[in-house]
Amino acid sequence: MNARHAGDDGARQAAWDRLAAGPETLAALFAADPERVARLSARLELAEGGMLFDWSKMHLTDELLAGFETLAEAAGFAEARRKLFAGEVVNPSEQRAAGHTALRGVGPAASVEEAAALRERMRLLVAAIHEGALGEVEHLIHIGIGGSALGPALAVDALARDLARVEVHVVSNVDGVALEEAFAKCDPATTLVAVASKTFTTIETMTNADSALAWLRDNGVADAYGRVIALTADPGKAVEWGVDETRVLPFAESVGGRYSLWSSIGFPVALAIGWEDFEAMLAGAAAMDAHFRDSDGRANLCLRAAFADLLYARLKGAETRAVFAYDERLRLLPSYLQQLEMESNGKSVTVDGAPAGPTAPITWGGVGTDAQHAVFQLLHQGTHLVPVEFIASIAPGDALDPAHHRILLQNCFAQGAALMAGRAGDDPARAYPGDRPSATILVDDLDAATLGALIAFHEHRTFAGAVLMGINPFDQFGVELGKEIAKSIDQGGGSFDASTAALLQAAGLK
Ligand code: F6P
Repeated sequence: MNARHAGDDGARQAAWDRLAAGPETLAALFAADPERVARLSARLELAEGGMLFDWSKMHLTDELLAGFETLAEAAGFAEARRKLFAGEVVNPSEQRAAGHTALRGVGPAASVEEAAALRERMRLLVAAIHEGALGEVEHLIHIGIGGSALGPALAVDALARDLARVEVHVVSNVDGVALEEAFAKCDPATTLVAVASKTFTTIETMTNADSALAWLRDNGVADAYGRVIALTADPGKAVEWGVDETRVLPFAESVGGRYSLWSSIGFPVALAIGWEDFEAMLAGAAAMDAHFRDSDGRANLCLRAAFADLLYARLKGAETRAVFAYDERLRLLPSYLQQLEMESNGKSVTVDGAPAGPTAPITWGGVGTDAQHAVFQLLHQGTHLVPVEFIASIAPGDALDPAHHRILLQNCFAQGAALMAGRAGDDPARAYPGDRPSATILVDDLDAATLGALIAFHEHRTFAGAVLMGINPFDQFGVELGKEIAKSIDQGGGSFDASTAALLQAAGLK
């Protein structure tokens, strides 16, 4: 596949041109190098435990890694990373820094301090609620969408299963069915509502927030606003809407929505799992920040993952990548990664506005072992090239017969082995071509710190990929047009194509 793209400048283009995905099969690569597993695996130690990354079943070679390292140099990776951690502008279209690492204590001193002060404010509110300052609290309805919902939903689902101090119900969809489902599980007298929105203007969130207030009032809660906590980068708007300032938890404008789990958007996580574990999650992410900031070339695991992503997306023409969590607690990880990767790197122009060539593949996935019985047929015998990522934990998340976890992990490793080995046969319908790539991330134990590190790994991998492709991962103008059209429909204006006009008419909206 031709990797020449008009958006690349001279040095970057020359580096791309030198990169050519070799014809070697995975079997040949393993046969040629007895040290391949050691060479392409790496372990990252965290304060307690760690995580193992194995890229040996991907078509990476020393030569390719060296070529990608040259590309990283040509693309100005070190400088881009310096700017990220220095709090300089890395989002040129909006002239913004990206402040998410400062939330974890890694970044310019002023931003780290500001984030720590806001975190302390949140800690005090969480402590007050745990101590009963707002009466008995059994449930929290967390209302937000996109980055204001996906991170909290993932972290609460992963970490609060057996120790939830407050039961969290994340509601994102404006479809009232979603909110009604949460209402049905909650007692209004013991329920708080968090309204999470960076802008505090998102129509879905504000509509749900109004209905949640009405539900509280209609069910005998005298001071409905008194049960609301606002999580936002625009505290003025939250106060204007009616939330008392003492229950507004702000975060910095420089924190992007899909990078905001670490800010006050993480409030439901802290409320559910407790402050200590929330901080452990931040510390795990900070450990990944330090690794990303301080390691170079292929030794930088986030950068190495981006090399593998580009190998398939750009040199081998893969249009999707699949993530399978062999861990029920990570069942929401694929949808979290969909926003992170597709909203960040789903772009078609470089930072200079030139055509960018293939950028983010479509991220999809599911949970193992369920996915094996549904979509793996295509991975093993279909016609698409799909690099697969498996994520699993050595320690089980359950206390049942160890057979459960043993079978789970055996299946995970069997899938990677089968994808690579394939099986020849006389009957084409029963033959497996093999040579299909997969990477595995195996964590010691899925605790709060490990989850933090795992998410931060994907954030930095996404950023690194964007730098290599010369695109801006921090804006998302592609979501605006549909919002504008929906608004004009609501206002009764606009003229639409014949199909849309007919649909509006059929639904009684025009
Ligand atoms: O429409 C996309 C988006 O802006 C996401 O980037 C963001 O996470 C989501 O909407 C929610 O935005 P807000 O937090 O401002 O409600």
